[in-house]
Amino acid sequence: MSVEQNRHAEVAKTIARVRAICGSGDMSRDKLGQIEEVLLELAARQDLFPDSEFGIPTDEKIRLYRLAEDPDGGFALYLHAANVPAEVAPHNHATWAAIAGIGGEETNFLYERTNGDAPVLTGQRPIRKGESISLMPDDVHSIRAGGTEPLKNLHLYGLAMEKLHDREFWDAKRAVWTRVPPTSGIIERRSA
Ligand SMILES: [Fe+2]
Repeated sequence: MSVEQNRHAEVAKTIARVRAICGSGDMSRDKLGQIEEVLLELAARQDLFPDSEFGIPTDEKIRLYRLAEDPDGGFALYLHAANVPAEVAPHNHATWAAIAGIGGEETNFLYERTNGDAPVLTGQRPIRKGESISLMPDDVHSIRAGGTEPLKNLHLYGLAMEKLHDREFWDAKRAVWTRVPPTSGIIERRSA
């Protein structure tokens, strides 16, 4: 089996397990914790995500590769690659999200959000190989990536990024939350 075939098989297994954890009820932090464990197993398979297919050129900031997505946009799995240093302002996701590290070093800062006001820092968590984090739709985090290696991690979202119209980022200069348009330019890496 080629690396590509192997990856498609492992991604399909991962999504099937996540789907089973989700079941028919609402998402919960407990379920997200279980999803993190499943995602970490896939992230540990560095051999499935070689730089030749999932790298990032030095003159680009970020690349998103799509690994899976349901026809309705559900269970959208991406590999996120970024050059360092990098920073992402505090934001929500408007869907549940789980992140697992493959390589590189990023720190996640977690916030509480009071209506209309500045996000209040409540904690921080490193994400490196073997580490993960998950967020409910209204949870707010920011990211700072450092070290010397480009960042590479898996992002699993409850809904595809192109369909997320209610994401808000904190604009610290203007001290306002700003709604951002859905992400585009995602590179296809699903099975043909
Ligand atoms: Fe995020």
